[in-house]
Amino acid sequence: MKIIICKDYEEMSKEAAKIFSDRIKNKKDIILGLATGSTPIGMYENLVKENKEGKLDFSNVRSFNLDEYLGISEDNDQSYHYFMNDNLFSKVNIKKENTHFPCLDENEDGSHYDKEIEEAGGIDIQVLGIGRNGHIAFNEPAEELNVNTGKINLTQSTIEANSRFFESEDQVPVSAVSMGMGSIMKAKELVILASGKEKADAVKYLIKGDKVSTDCPVSFALLHPNATLIVDEDAAK
Ligand code: F6R
Repeated sequence: MKIIICKDYEEMSKEAAKIFSDRIKNKKDIILGLATGSTPIGMYENLVKENKEGKLDFSNVRSFNLDEYLGISEDNDQSYHYFMNDNLFSKVNIKKENTHFPCLDENEDGSHYDKEIEEAGGIDIQVLGIGRNGHIAFNEPAEELNVNTGKINLTQSTIEANSRFFESEDQVPVSAVSMGMGSIMKAKELVILASGKEKADAVKYLIKGDKVSTDCPVSFALLHPNATLIVDEDAAK
């Protein structure tokens, strides 16, 4: 795994945007794997800026998001649809029909999303944030991790962490649909971002680099042949 340690969040965001911008310029019909959360916002801001300056074209870009809550509507301002529109999609020239989010079918199965990604040609580059407990997407530390996209019941620690975005904890959705570990690992390139000291435990796994554990799902990225970790000094501590 390639590791880049940056001074702070701004520098981390610029580094990540540089990689995404470069890949988009080199493959016009690129397929991006996208994440929500506070971590990638700065990267999206940098990409929006480049698009506004006429240096980055999203007209043929396609995207697949990692996850979405269940039980809240797309126009709820806490939904991941809303987040992506607000932070990226409405600000660049990406076509709405080229943007995708996971969902469940009538049997509560989400693996059709993995087929859709595969049929599109596979994700070229995937950005990942890390949960304080080492989760990626909604793959929480557990004895076993999902391979494919599917339904997830959120752990209490994630509900508590996410409650900062809702008026009260009882408004936080208790389930979500998320890409599985296999879905994520199939991306041709991973860019993992972490900022802040509360991510340091999970980052330690990646920097030590000698063990993977389902107790720290992001550690599976150590098995990926083309993964880059970009962290700020606090997360690297
Ligand atoms: C979001 C996602 C989550 C976040 C993680 C970190 O699509 O998949 O795994 O990346 O919870 O969240 P932040 O960036 O808010 O610290």
